[in-house]
Amino acid sequence: MIIRKASVSDAYSIARVNLETWKTAYSGIISQDYLDSLSYKKYEKIWEDILKNRNKKSFIYVAQDENRNIIGFAWAGLERSGLSKYNGELHAIYVLKKYQRRGIGKSLFLTIFKNLYRMNIKNIIVWVLKKSMYRTFYEFLQGKNVGEKKDKIGDKNYDLVAYGWDNIDIIE
Ligand SMILES: CC(C)(COP(=O)(O)OP(=O)(O)OC[C@H]1O[C@@H](n2cnc3c(N)ncnc32)[C@H](O)[C@@H]1OP(=O)(O)O)[C@@H](O)C(=O)NCCC(=O)NCCS
Repeated sequence: MIIRKASVSDAYSIARVNLETWKTAYSGIISQDYLDSLSYKKYEKIWEDILKNRNKKSFIYVAQDENRNIIGFAWAGLERSGLSKYNGELHAIYVLKKYQRRGIGKSLFLTIFKNLYRMNIKNIIVWVLKKSMYRTFYEFLQGKNVGEKKDKIGDKNYDLVAYGWDNIDIIE
């Protein structure tokens, strides 16, 4: 498994991992109609825009298998709401179901943390669906439960919880 910086040409592969993981991880939590409506073409465009508009404070890393297929990715940067005491934010992290529980998420996460640390960002937040069983991943990584909010996905509101790291020195 290799972890490398993403390039714009990875947009479709990232969109595929994003949607396939959403469908396996969030079925039963997010409305099935919404999950069924997600379009690979639309998400390829969304990821192309994100990859093109990256700045020095936002980055995406991908994990590849031995055949160079993208099997996971993570995206992070500055905290987006501007309302939080946290400076950095993990915006998204996804690993295809078939490859989960092999340490890939942890490797992606540590890569993101090291990059934020190099930018002198030492406190980080991530928002996750309250009903998601994958919250355990952040607890394993010593994230502390630091908030709750509701957010719209499609046309429905969902409960989210935040995990925070106040000093990312503790991770290494
Ligand atoms: C969350 C996610 C990125 C973790 O990636 P991963 O490669 O499976 O994670 P790792 O193998 O590095 O897991 C590290 C540890 O986290 C914990 N963990 C991870 N997934 C877990 C699960 N489904 N249930 C319980 N604990 C879990 C375990 O302690 C695990 O260590 P172990 O396998 O030795 O017991 C991945 O499972 C995923 O894409 N999930 C669906 C999408 C999602 O919820 N993303 C995060 C919200 S943005």
